[in-house]
Amino acid sequence: MRERLIRALMEAQGFVSGARMSADVGISRGAVWKHIQALRQGGFAIDASPRKGYRLLEIPDALNAAVVTPLLAGGFGKPYHYRRSLKSTNDTAKTLAHAGAPEGTVVVAEEQTGGRGRRGRFWYSPPGGLWFSLILHPKIPPAEVNSLSLVLSLAVAEGLERLTGARPSLKWPNDVLLRGRKVGGILTEISSEADQVHFVVAGIGVNVNFTSFPPDIEPTATSLQAQTGGAVCRPRLFSAVLVSLEDNYRLWCEKGFPPFRKAYKERIDLLGKRVSAANPTGTLNGLAWDIDGDGRLVLRLPNGEETRLSTGEVTVREG
Ligand code: BTN
Repeated sequence: MRERLIRALMEAQGFVSGARMSADVGISRGAVWKHIQALRQGGFAIDASPRKGYRLLEIPDALNAAVVTPLLAGGFGKPYHYRRSLKSTNDTAKTLAHAGAPEGTVVVAEEQTGGRGRRGRFWYSPPGGLWFSLILHPKIPPAEVNSLSLVLSLAVAEGLERLTGARPSLKWPNDVLLRGRKVGGILTEISSEADQVHFVVAGIGVNVNFTSFPPDIEPTATSLQAQTGGAVCRPRLFSAVLVSLEDNYRLWCEKGFPPFRKAYKERIDLLGKRVSAANPTGTLNGLAWDIDGDGRLVLRLPNGEETRLSTGEVTVREG
């Protein structure tokens, strides 16, 4: 009920009369008033005028279900699990996925006490960020899952851009950057057997409304607030990102990486540069030549040979 009222207020983009709300939602005008009072107590700023009705002024910067779910238009975020604090949303999502949670399930926390990054790193996750995990059940062979995290990182960049106007770039395979500093990342974890994916947990972190970082990441990290100069409404950001994630995921399930290749390549500032690529088997030096139709980095080695990397950590070499 309250969700429908919030949606009506959001869609109105101005005042909406009490009579209209009561007719649309199917409750009395007195009941509308009571819900409005409760929403105000929950942090929504709502203007009330005896002649014009109600107008939504501000959404609280909180990620609980009452605030976020009315903003969700698609299937991602259903069901929606919110916790104030978790060790890692990926861990909780994996437990839920093992217990049969459906595609589109989202786990979100205001803060993580043991947030995990790629390559076993710690992921700094204080209150004010966007830390969540998405459960997916793609019906494709495990070997083809690799490009999914690239496609999801592109979706995060597109969602951030749509909401803030800032233009994030990407660092292969799936770091999201603003002015060369890391603003977000994705940790994709897969449960599969030889020819079948049981589930994918895509853990996504975006530094939003905080501006200080631990010393070890301070030189390379940034946040949306630091880059845009003001606080960003996290519920709106979250809904914009979930829409992009869902759009990209559906297309990827149907057609794989090729439809995203051009947009992805436009966001990385890597091709044509001399790089060092550390991957599980060692470090390779070469020229970053291309991103292929599977999302792999094509590297030209000094001996003229070409190699393709599915994952790794790439550093641009000076000179
Ligand atoms: C990276 O190293 O770039 C990946 C960072 C992924 C962080 C997110 S925050 C939500 C989810 N839960 C985690 O523990 N990690 C991911």
